[in-house]
Amino acid sequence: MKKLVVLTGAGISAESGISTFRDSDGLWENHRIEDVASPIGWERDPETVMKFYNLRRKQLFEVHPNEGHRALAKLQDHFDVQIITQNIDDLHERAGSSNVLHLHGELKKVRSTVHPELIYTMDHWELKMGDVCEKGHQLRPHIVWFGEAVPMIGIAAEIAEQADIFMVVGTSMAVYPAAGLIGFVKQYIPKYYIDPKAFQMPGIANLKTVNEKAGSGIPRLAKELLKMN
Ligand code: APR
Repeated sequence: MKKLVVLTGAGISAESGISTFRDSDGLWENHRIEDVASPIGWERDPETVMKFYNLRRKQLFEVHPNEGHRALAKLQDHFDVQIITQNIDDLHERAGSSNVLHLHGELKKVRSTVHPELIYTMDHWELKMGDVCEKGHQLRPHIVWFGEAVPMIGIAAEIAEQADIFMVVGTSMAVYPAAGLIGFVKQYIPKYYIDPKAFQMPGIANLKTVNEKAGSGIPRLAKELLKMN
């Protein structure tokens, strides 16, 4: 089976009702990154950070995958689909995608502030101060904050290098190292960028932009890929 590697961002979950970050009324319009998504913010005021992720986690228990997520899961019947996502939601998995690599962490997981290898899955939305790991240390959201390392980027680059087809969906390509992954894909490989604001990237060959929402753009492209397969 051909390897279809897909890099996704917040845009693929927009039609499920989850805000993106940089669109009008996006999360970063209403919150200061340094207050809610940085180690400094956590040191300074953990309650505010906790509340920010608790509200997002509460919403995640209420929303569902959309046609974009489902169309990628369906493509697994014909391709070896590898999803590399910047998203911290679990909508790819809930849509039935088996190979999902989370670059920026997972909202339904928390980890020890002292022993980062101690990671736990939440079955409810609220994490509180005083919730501790098995060694008695405060738990924090299992999220990659700005200024923190992206531990999975090496594996993600290897997957991108092996792509026979590469797809980018619903990301502004503004955040590195995730946005740099397209640079690891072989030049002659067909690439597609599905996003209402999709744009051509200097130095990236064979890139077809699809200025459409994921919910309609992915199913349509999937039909084309199946014809070519
Ligand atoms: N379908 C497809 N794309 C969409 C849709 C949709 N229905 N709605 C919006 N988009 C697109 C926007 O045009 C934009 O290009 O989704 C993109 C969202 O971009 P950002 O808000 O910048 O989100 P993302 O690229 O995922 O951010 C990357 O930045 O804030 C950090 O860690 C966070 O993982 C995140 C990273």
